[in-house]
Amino acid sequence: MNMINFINNLPKAELHLHIEGSLEPELVFALAKRNNIKLKYNSVEQLKAAYEFDCLQDFLDIYYQGASVLITEADFYDLTYSYLQKCAAQNIRHTEIMFDPQTHTERGIAFKTVINGISKACIDAKEKLNISSLLIMSYLRHLTEEDAFKTLEESLPYKHLITAVGLDSSEKGNPPSKFERVFKASVKEGYIPLAHAGEEGPSEYIWEALDILNIKRIDHGNNCLHDKNLIQEIIKRDLALTVCPLSNTALQVVDDLKNHPLKKMMDLGLKVTVNSDDPAYFGGQLNQNFIEIQKALELSKRQLYELAKNSFKYSLLSNNEKQIYL
Ligand code: HPA
Ligand code: ZN
Repeated sequence: MNMINFINNLPKAELHLHIEGSLEPELVFALAKRNNIKLKYNSVEQLKAAYEFDCLQDFLDIYYQGASVLITEADFYDLTYSYLQKCAAQNIRHTEIMFDPQTHTERGIAFKTVINGISKACIDAKEKLNISSLLIMSYLRHLTEEDAFKTLEESLPYKHLITAVGLDSSEKGNPPSKFERVFKASVKEGYIPLAHAGEEGPSEYIWEALDILNIKRIDHGNNCLHDKNLIQEIIKRDLALTVCPLSNTALQVVDDLKNHPLKKMMDLGLKVTVNSDDPAYFGGQLNQNFIEIQKALELSKRQLYELAKNSFKYSLLSNNEKQIYL
């Protein structure tokens, strides 16, 4: 079987996906029309042409703008169901979806509207597409801890729908330690702690995410490679990295896929998974990430299998649920 077919057929889970980052330009226009919103772009092509990023902040500016077309529960439902349909086409059997409530509550959209739309799509996808999903509520790290506490409070009536908390947005200057208390409070409520760390931020931020937030999985984590002791600590704690190859090149975290550290990470004994991050903005869904990183690093079928197996092993599913896939 050729590599592309092998990748397409491989059962896999996606563990690092921002639902707002799955908002395709076509859907931006459709939702803008449905909600009578005037966009500053005249066409899908014009909007796509703006997707050129020098760094994370460049991307975030456009990403938050794009999300402003999401108004009603139906919008959040359509966004999520559309992503889950793409999962079905890629043999993604399980997905752990991040959502950023503050991106919406800041604009006056109710928490309830966001969570109901997303979770109803997940329930329908389980029934119609046989894809399981868990939700990760991510705090925006450029906002204050107090703001994150408000979000935690708003989430409590929907606690049964949310598995974990995450930390995303502008990393530099917003270290994990800024969120120590809200993460402690989140864990008390039963949420599993996760965080983006070491994407643009230094290895010290990964140490903080481990030692202060006590995270159970590291989103990105690329910059751990600058610190041998940190690598050993991550291995000792058996924490996986959710690596996002096309995101890393789009945001210039890595200059070329051929220089991507994914294989080096695997060779060092780190547990790695492949993910799409924000597929509508970074040029490819999950399988495209697999296809391009395989080609660039000449990964073997055994290595691809390992990556897909890790995606289930390091998911937030219960051990019983994982057994189906391992
Ligand atoms: N990094 C940080 N915040 C984000 C990202 C990312 O890659 N995508 C969406 N929010
Ligand atoms: Zn991310």
